[in-house]
Amino acid sequence: MGHAYATITLQVDPAQPDPEAIAQAAQLIRDGELVAFPTETVYGLGADALNPKAVAGIFRAKGRPADNPIIVHVPSAQDLAALTPEVPPLATALAARFWPGPLTLVVRRAPHVPHITTGGLETVAVRVPAHPVALALLRAAARPIAAPSANRSGRPSPTCAAHVLDDLRGRVRLVLDAGPCAVGVESTVLDLTQHPPVLLRPGGVTLEALEAAIGTVGLPRELDPAAGRSPGTRYRHYAPKATLLLAPPGQVQPLAVRLLEEGQTVGIMARQPLQLRHARARVRIIPGDLARYARELFAVLRELDAQGCQVIVAEGVAEEGLGRAVMDRLRRAAQGSQGRD
Ligand code: TXA
Ligand code: MG
Repeated sequence: MGHAYATITLQVDPAQPDPEAIAQAAQLIRDGELVAFPTETVYGLGADALNPKAVAGIFRAKGRPADNPIIVHVPSAQDLAALTPEVPPLATALAARFWPGPLTLVVRRAPHVPHITTGGLETVAVRVPAHPVALALLRAAARPIAAPSANRSGRPSPTCAAHVLDDLRGRVRLVLDAGPCAVGVESTVLDLTQHPPVLLRPGGVTLEALEAAIGTVGLPRELDPAAGRSPGTRYRHYAPKATLLLAPPGQVQPLAVRLLEEGQTVGIMARQPLQLRHARARVRIIPGDLARYARELFAVLRELDAQGCQVIVAEGVAEEGLGRAVMDRLRRAAQGSQGRD
């Protein structure tokens, strides 16, 4: 219904985007249209954050539940003051240390920030992205841009323009294609309206880095390993067609072998090569450090799912540093894959 856009894709240089492409994208934002653009974390689906009709378009295009608030992107830390009645001192300190970068700060909402943008909450989530294309677009549009990840709700976040087009072709006016994203998992979301601040979502800025900067950070039950897993998360996240199983670090092989022996087609995402040759195994090794695992995670899950695997075995990582964000996304994906028909 009404998704008959001819989506335009413009290739832009990630370091020095063509000003004409940026101007075209910025004009669309000012006109209340949707533009997908790269950030250092994942691609975002952007609209004028202060235009309720434009933001409604984001929810429609994604199929996103109306009570899930959207992050507002601004070009510099100074711009936070226009979105909140009072900039908390901690926000100033965190912005100086981590912006531009993959940290989102939840603060009180200024009255002119539409409720649709904040999912009906009295708070607003704000970040300054560290991508030249995103920053150029924000400056040229000259207004804050609301942007969730540019995937259909329930799909993995997009880390390249092809993922955006797979999910949103015909639903977005323009895609700025600047190649793959450097971080690959979404921003860390930190709630500054609570004391101490609470980590709502682990992401590109690690908990260790936050605590080094501001001291103790609270963990919600859901993210606290000591508290055990909460029974259900509020929103449905990436739900692969395949059943996703999480193997402990270094223990992918025995689980994969057992599933193959059961006769299943098995997708395998691991960090070290396996001694495993099997016609029904679809093996993707992501060698190297954790940053690379985070960067390639969503793309590999999309690929394995597209290859018709009945089950995907994903290698877990240690719950520290960027490993928290990786494990959070893998757990949600595993949860999303349970009990579906
Ligand atoms: O890296 C990112 O954060 C990417 C890029 C595009 O910036 N964006 C992103 O947006 O991941 P999204 O909508 O996929 O995730 C936003 C998260 C959601 O978990 C949402 O519930 C939370 O931030 N959030 C947004 N506003 C909030 C608020 N006012 N209070 C609490 N949580 C909020
Ligand atoms: Mg998302």
